[in-house]
Amino acid sequence: MNISRSIADVRERIAAFRREHPGASVGFVPTMGYLHEGHAALLRRSVAECDFTVISIFVNPLQFGPNEDLERYPRDEDRDLKLAAECGANLVFLPTVEEMYPKRQRTIVSVSGVTERLCGASRPGHFDGVATVVSKLLHIVGPDRAYFGMKDAQQIAVIRTMVEDLNFPVDIVPVETVREPDGLALSSRNVYLSPEERRQAAVLSQALEHAQRWSAEPGMTAPVLEERVKSHIRTAPLAVIDYVEVLTYPELEQPGADTPLAEISGELILALAVKFGSTRLIDNRLLNLQ
Ligand code: PAJ
Repeated sequence: MNISRSIADVRERIAAFRREHPGASVGFVPTMGYLHEGHAALLRRSVAECDFTVISIFVNPLQFGPNEDLERYPRDEDRDLKLAAECGANLVFLPTVEEMYPKRQRTIVSVSGVTERLCGASRPGHFDGVATVVSKLLHIVGPDRAYFGMKDAQQIAVIRTMVEDLNFPVDIVPVETVREPDGLALSSRNVYLSPEERRQAAVLSQALEHAQRWSAEPGMTAPVLEERVKSHIRTAPLAVIDYVEVLTYPELEQPGADTPLAEISGELILALAVKFGSTRLIDNRLLNLQ
């Protein structure tokens, strides 16, 4: 496994691989590091499907708001490199902030529509930061396929829209959310949770499971389902709800408030963001209404 800290070096290594292996495929997994089994699932999928796998590890300042956790975002380069190697990655791109943003970033990629609700509403500017850095990374790496986790379902919708609108020659591959045994979605931010917060955080995936059942009740609508899910989450005394929303996916639009869910064509997603102490957790599931 090779490690590159400069854009020029990454470009050179990938170009050399493509020269030596005509027709071979390159897979790419962008991350912010502090890798866990969720990231590992993306890496293993890329390694299984592509001839050469690149992972980037970069805590992107552009996607953090002024009062968010950029400074204290967890980092462990040695452990990350070990896990990436174990998963079979071929190249790790580990740029500094200066390498990625040598000047003030003057060009911002801003996706409209799918960014209006959920984290787009509660974290203003967040998805501009994500779309801009992913756009830069895709230009640097030039992969055939890029892998993203469904845990960040809105992020996938944003990246897919960007790739379609701007004609990036890449396939975006969504990967199922990896969970702890009690259902909590793996996240680099889970390390912030106190033992009691961690215990109560299992309520989120439980609520999503219940919601799947509740959504099949005759006449169930989005607002009623959202209220039920909120009530269930409030059984955890430390939970502070940011949002719980039922939307169409991947458009991320509100279905009619009075329309029974069963009558809505296309996919629906139930997405939530809940704070435990200072830690904001997100999770979601696609509702299966067959
Ligand atoms: P990060 O939070 O490090 O996540 C990197 C990738 O891992 C994302 O595609 C995310 O959806 C996926 N992931 C995280 N937890 C997961 C889980 N439990 N199961 C499956 N996949 C999971 O998302 C980012 O970084 C950044 O926004 C980035 C795209 C790198 C741009 O800076």
